[in-house]
Amino acid sequence: MLDIEDIQLSFGGVKALSGVTVNAETGMITSVIGPNGAGKTSLFNVISGFYRPQKGRVTLAGEDISSLKPHQRAYRGMARTFQNIALFHGMTVADNIKLGAHTHLKSGILSAGLRLPSTRNEEANLDKEADEIIDLLELDKVRNDQVEDLAYGLQKRVEMARALIMRPKILLLDEPVAGMNREEKSEMSRFVLRVKNDLNTTVLLIEHDMSMVMGISDAIVVLSFGQPIASGTPDEVRNNPDVIKAYLGSVDETTQNAA
Ligand SMILES: Nc1ncnc2c1ncn2[C@@H]1O[C@H](COP(=O)(O)OP(=O)(O)OP(=O)(O)O)[C@@H](O)[C@H]1O
Ligand SMILES: [Mg+2]
Repeated sequence: MLDIEDIQLSFGGVKALSGVTVNAETGMITSVIGPNGAGKTSLFNVISGFYRPQKGRVTLAGEDISSLKPHQRAYRGMARTFQNIALFHGMTVADNIKLGAHTHLKSGILSAGLRLPSTRNEEANLDKEADEIIDLLELDKVRNDQVEDLAYGLQKRVEMARALIMRPKILLLDEPVAGMNREEKSEMSRFVLRVKNDLNTTVLLIEHDMSMVMGISDAIVVLSFGQPIASGTPDEVRNNPDVIKAYLGSVDETTQNAA
C-alpha cells in the first residue's frame, strides 16, 4: 500500500533520516519503533508531506506522491494522528469526528449557507459515516460530550475516529497509547485491530509501548539515529542483537518493556 524508498532528511547539519526504506503491506499493521530521537515522527512528516526530504520517494497504492502537498495526500487516502492531541475544544465528540471530512466536502460555504439539496445529501452521508465510525470505536455514550471533558484515553480514540471518517487507505498513528494506563492501552490495541480487520485499513504505527507493538504488529521496522537497523516479524525483531543494543543505549521506559 505504501512504499517509502531510501529517504534522506537533514535539518541543517542534523541528519534526521538516512537510507530509510519501509513497505507497509496492504491490510497489515506495520510498526516503526526506535529510541527517542530516532527519526520516527520525522518519517511520518515525510510520508504525510509536511517535510520534504532531500532524497527518496513515497508511493501510495502505486502512485508516486513524493511531490504532493499534505492535503493532496489526504485526498488520496492517507490519514494520520499526531503525537500530541489535536482536537477542537468547545466542540462535541461527534462534531470533532465530522470535522475530519471538512477538507473533502465538495459543497462550498456558499451552498452550505443556502442549504442546497447537494449539501443536504453530503451532510446526510457524513452523518451516516460518522455513526458507523462512532459505533466501531464504541464512542456512542460520549458522542455529545465536549471533547475536553473526556478522559485522555478517550480523546485519543476520538482523534483516531476523526482520521477514519474519510475511510483512508492507510492510517498513520503516532504514539496512540503514550500516557495511557494499562487498561486504556489494551483497549486502544483492540480498536486498532478492529480498524485493520473490520475496515481493512492498512496501518502504520509509531509506538514506544512494546507490549502493544509486539502484540498487534504484522511487521516491525527499527530505526536508530535515523537509520533502519532491523526489520521483520515481532519475534525476529525482539531477538535481534542490534535492536537490543540500540535500546540498551537509550534510557527510557522502552528498555524495560522490551526485555
Ligand atoms: N523541525 C525540526 N528541526 C530540527 N530538527 C528536527 C526537527 N524535527 C526533528 N528534528 C530532529 O530530528 C531527529 C529525529 O527527531 P524525531 O522527532 O523524528 O524523533 P522520534 O523518533 O519521533 O522521537 P520520539 O520517540 O522522542 O518522539 C532529532 O534529532 C530531532 O531533534
Ligand atoms: Mg516522535
